[in-house]
Amino acid sequence: MATSKQSVTLVKTLDKEVDVLVVGLVETAKGPELVGLPTDLESSIRKRFGSSVMELALDLGAKTEPAHVTFLPTADHQLVVVGLGEVDVTPEQVRRSTAAAIRAVISRSKDPVQVAVSLETTDPEMIKAAAEGALLGGYQFRKVSDSENPARLGGVRIVSESTKSESRRAAEIGAVVAEAVCTARDWVNTPPNLLYPESFAEAAKEQVKDTKIDVEILDDKALRKNGYGGLTAVGGGSARGPRLVRFDYHPRGAKFHLALVGKGITFDSGGLDIKPADGMYTMKCDMGGAAAVLAATKAIAELGLSVHVTCYAAMAENMPSGDAYRPSDVLTIYGGTTVENGNTDAEGRLVLVDAIARACEDEPDMIVDVATLTGACMVALGKRIAGLMASDDHTADVVLDAAELAGEDFWQLPIPQHIDDDLDSDVADVKSTGPRQGGALVAAAFLRRFVADDIPWAHLDIAGPAFNDSKPYDHVPKGGTGVAVRTLVALGASLQN
Ligand code: BES
Ligand code: ZN
Ligand code: ZN
Repeated sequence: MATSKQSVTLVKTLDKEVDVLVVGLVETAKGPELVGLPTDLESSIRKRFGSSVMELALDLGAKTEPAHVTFLPTADHQLVVVGLGEVDVTPEQVRRSTAAAIRAVISRSKDPVQVAVSLETTDPEMIKAAAEGALLGGYQFRKVSDSENPARLGGVRIVSESTKSESRRAAEIGAVVAEAVCTARDWVNTPPNLLYPESFAEAAKEQVKDTKIDVEILDDKALRKNGYGGLTAVGGGSARGPRLVRFDYHPRGAKFHLALVGKGITFDSGGLDIKPADGMYTMKCDMGGAAAVLAATKAIAELGLSVHVTCYAAMAENMPSGDAYRPSDVLTIYGGTTVENGNTDAEGRLVLVDAIARACEDEPDMIVDVATLTGACMVALGKRIAGLMASDDHTADVVLDAAELAGEDFWQLPIPQHIDDDLDSDVADVKSTGPRQGGALVAAAFLRRFVADDIPWAHLDIAGPAFNDSKPYDHVPKGGTGVAVRTLVALGASLQN
C-alpha cells in the first residue's frame, strides 16, 4: 500500500542511469528561455534532429506557463520541459513545476524511473523546493492488492552547480519533509477498515522507532480510567476502541516547547446524527490532522531540530450503535469541564479538547491543533485554503509566516466573543455546538475554552484541503494531501534556539 523510501542526491553532471531529465522553460523579456539544459545534450540533439532543443520544444507545444509539461524524444534520456512561469522563479514555482513534471513522467511508466531535475537551482531554498517537489509529485498510493509492486519513481537527482554541504543539507531537508507529507498521505488514503484507532496508533509508533521520539499510547481502558470523557464518548459507538498517542521529542538544550494536537477520527459516520451517504464517503480523511501532527513531529526529529515537541493524536471511530453517545449527553472532558453534546457529528472538537487539556498540563510555550473540523470552513475558504484561528494575532502571524515559507495557504478567521456567548449550556459548563452560521468560528470558540489562558494557541481547520476528491494539480495528488505537515515543520524550524 504505502510508498517505499525515496532518496534525493545532489549531482553536478548526469550519469548513465538517468532515464529522464527535467529542464525548465521561463518567460523572459526576450521571450521563452530554457534553464538547466546541459550543453552536450544541446549539441547531440542538434546533430540528430537538425534543430535546437528550444525549436524542438516549441514545435512540440512547450509553454512557459507554470507546471506545463512537454515530452521531447532524445537519444540518451527522455527530456521533459516544464514551464516555470516568469523569470525570478520562486521556490514555490520550482516545487509545483517539478512535482507536475515528475507526476507526468511516472504516469507514463510501469517500471521505476531514475529522474534528474536540472533547473539551475544553486540557492539552498531552491534545492530544497526541487527535492520536495520531486518526491511530492512522485507520490503514489498503490492499490491495497498491489503492495508488493515497486514505486514507479526509482530515484531523484538534483543537478546543481553547488554540491557543498549547505546544498546537500537543503536537499536532505526537502526529502525528509516530503517523505513526512507522503506518510501523512498514506495514512489518510488507507481505507478505514484497515486504519482504525488501534492500527493507526501502532503504525504511528512503528514510524518513529528509529528516532529520538518517546511514544506513549493510552488505550480505551486507560482513557476511561484517566477521565478522557471526549475520546471515550466519541469512540463508544465503535467496536474498535479509541486511542491517545503521545510523542515526545526533547533534544538536549532545546528551549522552546511546542505542543501539537491532531484530530484522528479514523472514520466519521456522524454517529447517531448520521451523515448522508454523499457526505460520508470521504470521511476516512477525518484523521488528516492527527496524520499531519504525527508525521511533522517525525520529520522534526529526523532533522534534529532544536525544539521540544510533544504531539498528541486523538484517535477514535465515530459510529452509531447501542453503545454510541447521544445528542444531549453530558460528558466530562479530561480535567473536569462538563460538555453538553449538541450533535454527535461534531465529534472532532470533543476528542480534541481531551488532548488540548492534557497538552496544557505539559505547560508548553505554544499549542497548535490541526483538524478536519468543520464543513463550514470548507464552505468559507474552499478546497485549497485552510482556516487559521488563534488566541492572539502574534501567534497567528508566527504560524502564517511558517505557512508562507512552506508554500501552504492558510487564511485567518476571527473568534468573536459573541460566538463564545452562544456556547452557554443549561446543563453543563459549555455546549459543544452553537449557531450553524460561522460554524468554523463556533468550533474554534469551543476549543478555546480548554486552552489555558497563558498559553498561545493556534487552530488549523484543514477540512477543505486535507482530501482532494478531484484531479491532481501541482504537487497535490488525488486523495490525501498531507496538508499542514510542511507548515508544522517550518514552524518547528522557526522556533529553534
Ligand atoms: N469531519 C466533519 C467535518 C468535515 C466536513 C471534514 C467535510 C471534511 C470535509 C466534522 O466532524 C463534522 O461533521 N462537522 C459538522 C459539525 C456540525 C454538526 C456542528 C459540520 O461541519 O457540519
Ligand atoms: Zn462529524
Ligand atoms: Zn469529523
